[in-house]
Amino acid sequence: MSAPVRIGVIGGGMMGREVASALSRWFVLDNFPVRAELMGVCDVAEKPREWFRQVPTVKLITADYRQLLASNEIDVVYVAVPHDLHESIYIDVLKSGKDLFAEKPFGIDLQAARAISDAANHHGRFVRCSSEFPFLPGPQRVFQMARSGRLGRLIEIRTGFHHCSDLDPSKPINWKRQIKTCGEIGVMGDLGMHMVHIPFRLGWKPKRVYAQLQKIYHERPDGRGGMAAADTWDNAMLHTEADIDGAEVPMRFEMKRLAPGETNTWFLEILGTDGGAKFSTKEPKTLWTFTREKEQFWQRTDLGFQMPFPTITGGILEPGFPDCFLQMWAVFLAERAGKLEGRFGCVTPAEALQSHELFAAALRSHADKRAISLGEI
Ligand SMILES: NC(=O)c1ccc[n+]([C@@H]2O[C@H](COP(=O)([O-])OP(=O)(O)OC[C@H]3O[C@@H](n4cnc5c(N)ncnc54)[C@H](O)[C@@H]3O)[C@@H](O)[C@H]2O)c1
Repeated sequence: MSAPVRIGVIGGGMMGREVASALSRWFVLDNFPVRAELMGVCDVAEKPREWFRQVPTVKLITADYRQLLASNEIDVVYVAVPHDLHESIYIDVLKSGKDLFAEKPFGIDLQAARAISDAANHHGRFVRCSSEFPFLPGPQRVFQMARSGRLGRLIEIRTGFHHCSDLDPSKPINWKRQIKTCGEIGVMGDLGMHMVHIPFRLGWKPKRVYAQLQKIYHERPDGRGGMAAADTWDNAMLHTEADIDGAEVPMRFEMKRLAPGETNTWFLEILGTDGGAKFSTKEPKTLWTFTREKEQFWQRTDLGFQMPFPTITGGILEPGFPDCFLQMWAVFLAERAGKLEGRFGCVTPAEALQSHELFAAALRSHADKRAISLGEI
């Protein structure tokens, strides 16, 4: 058995802890070719550092990420910190000679994404960006159907990610609702990478965008009895077109923090003249497929645990968020080891950069109230 890949985490908040969860049950992956262990954690706050003390493999816990980067017992670093810190910390990871699993949006803006991407090329490290939903069985089937060419002429593509907890005006402010820490792109930086992953991998790149951006609540409780400005975009609808098989096809991206009743709904719909496919995490084991014969019909298929990499979980059981997150890590480490064997991979730096080009164009579109060609960015 080869030595495990030693992982360090910078930012032990919500996502840093998900990594501890995924790596702690690595053994559920059946005959997986790479071992992995969480070795070190850095967080500036005491509470998350304390939490990680219960993870048996963790040997290094620090408040200074430079200490983690100086350790020669860490091979790969996952960084999950506020967006204003992505550029400096990601580049420091690359300079330290370690591979990087970056969180989205891969820099606070397009300029930061370009700097990170240049550093990745310069240092020649293995770098990918997080987006886990495409590793669920439903999205994988939609991807395969789109790639098969069996859908006929494409009519439209619609994809989105909807949240609803911000509908509550008493929800306190946090760094994700402020431009200085989340970025001018707001909700696009929060939710957008999850949506573009599959269309971009299919080679469907928007060439033009018309954006509708909304700020719905302008302030939120600051947690100290006062109010603070909530100045990021809450909802974003990007109406785009992509050239697909010689035709210009409408492709709509919806990112919403205020979508009534939608707790964490990621969806993708691809409609063609001969076939179609739809998946939503709202019905997590259901794949909808369209067939046009003498009659037309939508067919519902219950999918089981058909993940990219097999696990000990029974084939008829249904997967959830921790499962697709574990699969994303398996895909990351398999690709790093040259063992992906044709499977769908994690977001590349080039794709992350393209997402920022789209969001930058969307900002300009909304400001100018006109469609913007991606060539203008
Ligand atoms: N893939 C996903 O599904 C998903 C979901 C949510 C968030 N994210 C992304 O993950 C990243 C983190 O989001 P989160 O929800 O985990 O945020 P969070 O606020 O829960 O955690 C961030 C952590 O970073 C720590 N931190 C801040 N500055 C630091 C520094 N200089 N050094 C070390 N630690 C520092 C904070 O103390 C905090 O514990 C963001 O990029 C976000 O967009 C991804």
